[in-house]
Amino acid sequence: MIAGNWKMNLGPAAAAELARSLMEASPEAADRTILLFPPAVSLAAVRELVQGRDDIGLGVQNLFWEPDGAFTGEISAPMASEAGAGYALVGHSERRHRFGETIPETVRKVRAAREAGLRPVLCVGETLDERRAERAAEVVLAQLEPVVSEWIAAEAELDLLIAYEPVWAIGTGETASAADADAMHRTIRDEVRRLAGSGAAESIAILYGGSVKPNNAAEILREPHVDGVLVGGASLNADAFARILGAAA
Ligand code: PGA
Repeated sequence: MIAGNWKMNLGPAAAAELARSLMEASPEAADRTILLFPPAVSLAAVRELVQGRDDIGLGVQNLFWEPDGAFTGEISAPMASEAGAGYALVGHSERRHRFGETIPETVRKVRAAREAGLRPVLCVGETLDERRAERAAEVVLAQLEPVVSEWIAAEAELDLLIAYEPVWAIGTGETASAADADAMHRTIRDEVRRLAGSGAAESIAILYGGSVKPNNAAEILREPHVDGVLVGGASLNADAFARILGAAA
């Protein structure tokens, strides 16, 4: 599973242009899924283009937990779904660190996504200070546990994706070593096993994100607990993204 988070880049025309180039550079393949997260205002334009490509899923980068009402500037999960999203990023580090999103808010957002039939992609990750203080696993599990526990309490089959994105590796050119990424993915999988059982732990997809580029994707994707990557900067270039997809083959 190779996901592209376009962040606050590309209005409808530019987003459609990138989607078109991307589809040309990466013909449909049965053995992998591409997820694209354009800005919400560009979702419709991209949706129109990717129709018929069963290997491409679309998502929103954020949502609000209420279904509708006086929440100026927010987008609800049912609206995102109607506009063509099948997935929703929740708790991206930029949401947590630049917009003050809290863990309880991510729980509510994941619940709203689930109830609207969107598959949430829960992003978790530690800061550099937290890693240096050897608190990385503790921080990541504190972000994960309430979301998984709420899901289990709702007695629904656990159907979310997890993206491990160390904050210090996002947009910085730094990546976790493949071995460090795999170790954290294993820790996450063990926690899912503890909370939701072996079936869920085995089937859950855990993506790595943080400065994934064509030259490091293959090494990261080779790790046993890495099920895909969430790509920011390099997903804005059709050729670079196609080479990352190539690394997943
Ligand atoms: P990056 O972003 O690949 O530019 O580091 C990843 C992300 O924030 O999802």
